[in-house]
Amino acid sequence: MSVTETVTRNQATTQQKCLLVANQQTDPLANFPEYLSYKCKREDGTELQLALKCTRKAETDPKVIKWAFKLAERNVGPQYRACSLGWQPKIKQADLNKTWARYLVATEVATKKPVAYTMFRFDLDYGRSVLYCYELQVESEYQRKGLGAFMMKALERMAQHFSMERVVLTVLKNNEDGMRFYQRLGYEVDEMSPGKEENAAYEIMSKSMM
Ligand SMILES: CC(C)(COP(=O)(O)OP(=O)(O)OC[C@H]1O[C@@H](n2cnc3c(N)ncnc32)[C@H](O)[C@@H]1OP(=O)(O)O)[C@@H](O)C(=O)NCCC(=O)NCCS
Repeated sequence: MSVTETVTRNQATTQQKCLLVANQQTDPLANFPEYLSYKCKREDGTELQLALKCTRKAETDPKVIKWAFKLAERNVGPQYRACSLGWQPKIKQADLNKTWARYLVATEVATKKPVAYTMFRFDLDYGRSVLYCYELQVESEYQRKGLGAFMMKALERMAQHFSMERVVLTVLKNNEDGMRFYQRLGYEVDEMSPGKEENAAYEIMSKSMM
């Protein structure tokens, strides 16, 4: 076996070990109490307190998953309908109910109402160990308060802790606010993103955690 092959094989083993450890965690955010709460201001200037919780799909309240679907439909349904993908509710529902899905949900402490979520998993993506963020949705009245950025930071903290190489996500090209949001957080078009000639409706973006 060549030196390159040995190095590649060792890397693969290390990646697989890291993924195994990450995927064994019931709550990968448990070690980071600084990400379990978030405070910001309401429009009227009063304080808004949010509690964050990370769960596997199996431990996530099915009502929360139904709400997650409805929120995705409200937030990005119009962009899906406006592009070649179209809005496919059955597929979105099935995706949100995958057994491997992990949820990070922000709930308003005063009302116990969920207001934002991200759905993600630790995975091997084209040979890279990644935290793949499948959804990030914030209720409209809670947007532009730093919550989305805070939740992405929480994902990045977990990715770093469990030695994932990158955080990867997809965003529709017609979602200009979403694109700008991720760019501001340091995300760039991923090498695996479809090329211009493919004329895809989405872009894959990623950020190195190494
Ligand atoms: C995109 C999204 C996830 C961002 O979450 P968010 O909580 O609104 O984001 P943040 O508040 O952290 O940052 C958003 C913007 O608000 C600004 N902002 C942050 N705190 C702010 C504050 N206190 N007051 C005013 N603006 C603020 C940020 O600078 C940022 O500006 P930018 O978009 O020009 O970069 C959210 O708006 C959303 O759910 N949108 C609809 C669904 C969507 O597009 N999801 C992502 C792709 S699938």
